[in-house]
Amino acid sequence: MAKTYKIAVIPGDGTGPEVIAEGKKVLDAVAQKFGFKLDMHEFDYGGDRYLRTGEVLPRNSVDELKKFDSIYLGAIGHPDVKPGILEKGILLKLRFELDQYINLRPVKLYPGVDSPLKDKGPEQIDYVVVRENSGGMYTGTGGFSMRGTEHEVATQNMVYSRHQVERCLKYAFEYAQRHGKKARGKGDSNTLGLVGKTNVLTFVFDLWERIFNELGDQKYPDVKRKYYHVDAACMWMVKNPEWFDVLVTGNMFGDIITDLGAMIQGGMGIAAGGNINPEGVSMFEPIGGSTPKYSGQGIINPLAAIVAGAMMLDTLGEAEASVAIENAVMEVTGKKLKSLSAGEMGYSTSEVGDLVANLL
Ligand code: IPM
Ligand code: MN
Repeated sequence: MAKTYKIAVIPGDGTGPEVIAEGKKVLDAVAQKFGFKLDMHEFDYGGDRYLRTGEVLPRNSVDELKKFDSIYLGAIGHPDVKPGILEKGILLKLRFELDQYINLRPVKLYPGVDSPLKDKGPEQIDYVVVRENSGGMYTGTGGFSMRGTEHEVATQNMVYSRHQVERCLKYAFEYAQRHGKKARGKGDSNTLGLVGKTNVLTFVFDLWERIFNELGDQKYPDVKRKYYHVDAACMWMVKNPEWFDVLVTGNMFGDIITDLGAMIQGGMGIAAGGNINPEGVSMFEPIGGSTPKYSGQGIINPLAAIVAGAMMLDTLGEAEASVAIENAVMEVTGKKLKSLSAGEMGYSTSEVGDLVANLL
């Protein structure tokens, strides 16, 4: 009997439903080709539901989602809802409650895609950022005192436990062993670069660096180690992206450098990410957001959502199907699309989905 994966689909807000529809189209096509089944169930979580019901996530939703093999998410963010409510109440809540402690973000320039970096092509721009996704400033304690007075104080602490750092670094080392440049036949070593700020954040990144070296020496001596301060890492991402293989960093730095990475790989039309719990339920999403100004016009680029679907299949263990989608996407960027930007692709959203699906 064909293997069946249960997928929870959360199309979400803005352009989310449009890009997810194309992602589903491609996933269905690849499933048929590779002989497995995707049993997809939709959930209407997002801004519209919140405005209608006053509830961000229903009480049992996390338990409900835990019954699935994976989650496929469009976008969260609604122009009529105050910033923070949906992001914290849906996206961050699911990341935390499902303990998706890794945020995996490939920075890969596909053929035919324009990068803003001069003289850099697909050979040079091909690395992955492993962003810690469960701690740091995102959960740090903090608060106000004397709020509203002249002497008001606000704090937001960067908090990391050894447990959080260790499990993230373990994932990153193992990822480097499996997907580093040597493993992919693109270099003579698998290299993990730690991105931190040991010169100023002398507590938190001291912990990261110690565990990085301990684990590296004891368990992963075959993985080459590098260290970059985060500000320098930003310089090299622009000037020498070919230096990077797999990078690992904390939550806040990871948030920032992966938006830089997304622009370098051609923008939000193509950048995808996975919120991964290696022992549990993971969630895959295009990282571009809900872009309400483009919604409902059939002009948004669905490739990021399609690539997120490919990442989902890889994590589910369908590596070949995942590679097939990525190859089809590269064919489409290389030979078909005029641009990755909304409204300038030379095709509509659903035509781009068809192009990819027909190549499978
Ligand atoms: C991302 C987003 C989120 C984050 C926001 C929407 C909470 O920017 O996925 O990178 O900061 O993690
Ligand atoms: Mn972000």
